[in-house]
Amino acid sequence: MDTTIEIFGHKLASGLMNASGVHCMTLEELDQLADSQAGAFITKTATLAPRQGNEEPRYFDTPLGSINSMGLPNLGIDYYLDYQIDRQRRFPEELHFLSVAGMNYAENLAILKKVQASEYTGMTEFNLSCPNLPGKPQIAYDFELTEQLLTEVFGFFTKPLGVKLPPYFDLAHFDDMATILNKFPLAYVNSINSIGNGLYIDVEQEEVVIRPKGGFGGIGGEYVKPTALANVRAFAQRLKPEIKIIGTGGILTGKDVFEYFLCGASLVQIGTQLHQEGPKAFERINQELLAIMNAKGYQTIEEFRGKLKEK
Ligand code: DHB
Repeated sequence: MDTTIEIFGHKLASGLMNASGVHCMTLEELDQLADSQAGAFITKTATLAPRQGNEEPRYFDTPLGSINSMGLPNLGIDYYLDYQIDRQRRFPEELHFLSVAGMNYAENLAILKKVQASEYTGMTEFNLSCPNLPGKPQIAYDFELTEQLLTEVFGFFTKPLGVKLPPYFDLAHFDDMATILNKFPLAYVNSINSIGNGLYIDVEQEEVVIRPKGGFGGIGGEYVKPTALANVRAFAQRLKPEIKIIGTGGILTGKDVFEYFLCGASLVQIGTQLHQEGPKAFERINQELLAIMNAKGYQTIEEFRGKLKEK
C-alpha cells in the first residue's frame, strides 16, 4: 500500500503540495518544502517586478482558519523562474510548479511569454483569482475576460499550464466556466483560491484584524472546505478528463485529503494548515491518509479517486 501518484509524466511520493502563497516566498522556504514529505511544491505567485505587497498586519490566524490580504508580495518572476530552472537541472525526476499572475491584462501575457521563452519545462499555474489587489477584481469572475485571456495565451504558450480559480457558488457558474475551460488544452484546474473578501472581527477591540482594504481579506482553512470540495466535485463532473484537478482549501488532516480524492482531485494543496504547522504537516497528513487507506483496505489512491457515491 502506498500514496504514490503518477501525474504529468512524473511519479510523486505523495499527492500533497503547499498552496501558493504559503511557505514559498524565499529560496530558504522553497528548499524546506523540497526537503519535506510534500510530493511537489509551488512557488509564490510571481509578478514581472518584485512587490512589497500590502501594509501589515496582512495575515491573521483565526480559530477556524485564516484571513489574509497579502497583496502579492513576491521577489519577481526572474527569482522563481531561475530557482525552478536550477531545480529542473538538478532534479529532473521532480515535478515543478511555478505560479504567475500579471497586475493587468498586458502583464499577464508578458509574464507567460517570459516563461515560454525560458528553459523551464515544468508546470505553470496561472493565477486568475487573487482577491487582494485594491481596485482589481478577480479575473476568473469575469467569464468573457477569462475566455479572451486564455485564447490569447494559448496562441503562444505551449508548455503545460494550469489555472487557479476562485470558488464559485452556483451550478450555472460551474457549467459556464467548465464550458470555457474545456475549449483549451489546460493541464489542470486548481480549485479553490481563498474565499475572497471575508471579514473577521476582534470583538474585544471592536475592530478588524488586518490592515489592508478596511479588513476585508481572503478566507482559508476549515471555513472553506465544503465550498472547495463542491468546486472540485463540480469541475470533476464537467471538465474533459485530460484536465486534471488540484484540490485546495481547508485541509487539516488525512481525512480531508481522502475527501478531496473521492471528489476527483489528482493532487491537493495545503495553505492555512501549512502556515500554522510548518512543513512537517506533510508527513503527518500523509500518514493519516495511509491509516485511512489501510483501515478501508485500499492499496492505491486510484482505487477510490473520483468514486464519491450519491445517496
Ligand atoms: C495573494 C492572495 C491570493 O489568494 C492569490 O491568489 C494571490 C496573491 C496575495 O494577497 O498575495
